[in-house]
Amino acid sequence: MGRFPFGIARGWYLLAYGEELARESALPLERLGRSLVLFRGASGEAHLLDAHCPHLGAHLGIGGRVAGNTIQCPFHGWRFGGDGDCKAIPYAKRIPSGARIRSYPVAERNGMIFAWYDAAGAAPDFEIPLVAEWDDPEWLGEWLSCEWTVRTHPQEMGENGIDWPHFETIHRIPAPADRRWEFRDHAYCWQVGGTKPAASLESGQDEILMYGENWGLGYSWLRQRGHYETLVATGMTPIDEETTHVRMGVLGRIGRSPSPAARAAFEAYVREHALFAEADFPIWENKRSRERPLLCDGDGPIAEYRRWAARFHPSPNPGAPTEA
Ligand code: FES
Ligand SMILES: [Fe+2]
Repeated sequence: MGRFPFGIARGWYLLAYGEELARESALPLERLGRSLVLFRGASGEAHLLDAHCPHLGAHLGIGGRVAGNTIQCPFHGWRFGGDGDCKAIPYAKRIPSGARIRSYPVAERNGMIFAWYDAAGAAPDFEIPLVAEWDDPEWLGEWLSCEWTVRTHPQEMGENGIDWPHFETIHRIPAPADRRWEFRDHAYCWQVGGTKPAASLESGQDEILMYGENWGLGYSWLRQRGHYETLVATGMTPIDEETTHVRMGVLGRIGRSPSPAARAAFEAYVREHALFAEADFPIWENKRSRERPLLCDGDGPIAEYRRWAARFHPSPNPGAPTEA
């Protein structure tokens, strides 16, 4: 038995920032416990397929090339569309039935490319909403980003937002105030405020109010009001059931084209936010999930969070269709 009993949850997962995938190019990715290929066709639309060709098993993302709105296998040149169907075989008169690869719904939102994953192949039942800051000229229209590979599961990361006492012990926000939370159908929202140490600021501290929304287990954003107004969008994409690729992107309300000095000061503030996030990692990487935790009255709504999170877990239904 591994450290986490959850499996890979149903949900939207961040795969790349839009600018990382040029038109008519492909990226090989190891995510969601599988080998995948992400490609952008001539029309600009992004697609995600399982990587291994149904013919003789070559990896489409390694040496494959995008031709129009298809990806062409490097081995014998079969071409697959974004829907996973084989569209052409250069040396055959007839395409064999069943010549297809599993494809995944993809959505590009707020400068990010997401894919929907459901172990049994069910369609998305919620959307990734647009964030107004992305197109607002008062905000830097560029994600300042960091990434990490963390030995944990997204469910454990999500639990952090409502784990009130850890804000003091791990993040050094003494007596965090304004604590609120709400569990909705596909998102849970939380809020916490307080004073946190901030070496990049002259005062050495930052009075902050954080408001977070977690959409499923794979994606969250945090609006933080403090010295700066920021939006921190975090993708938590499983590599496998025990390892998560974390990408944190930060937008700041510093205008579209700040002066070099203003930008540098903001970048220092963002680096501090990355340190804030990293403070949790040693705990996450070494803890194990407790199915029946021993809780006390000062703890956050851990049980409520877990009831909410369970709706995204793969169904234990043994009759679920098996994957190709
Ligand atoms: S292995 Fe892909 S075309 Fe032959
Ligand atoms: Fe934390």
